[in-house]
Amino acid sequence: MGAIQAQILDELGYDPDDGRPQLHELRPVAVGEVVAARDGARAVAVARLGSGRLVVVADVCPHDGGRISDGYVEGERLVCTRHGWELEPCEGRCVRARRG
Ligand code: FES
Repeated sequence: MGAIQAQILDELGYDPDDGRPQLHELRPVAVGEVVAARDGARAVAVARLGSGRLVVVADVCPHDGGRISDGYVEGERLVCTRHGWELEPCEGRCVRARRG
């Protein structure tokens, strides 16, 4: 990593070339789709749930830090593929879904 790149990373708090678009740059998200994005420095997952509701959550699984954007949508839930937890979006984060 060069000195300029290190300075940018230090000032922004993230790598602007990491492939995550900012929220305002995101194309429309289809029902059942989840994509990686960025809200400023914050890595987020953007998903369109089965009902059509659009959610934006921190891209960190509450189980063990997996990337929620690597998972998939199942109805009104997100599924983290790392260990298979079913998650419910709640106030910008995900919580483990209750069974039943
Ligand atoms: S890190 Fe997501 S289920 Fe384990």
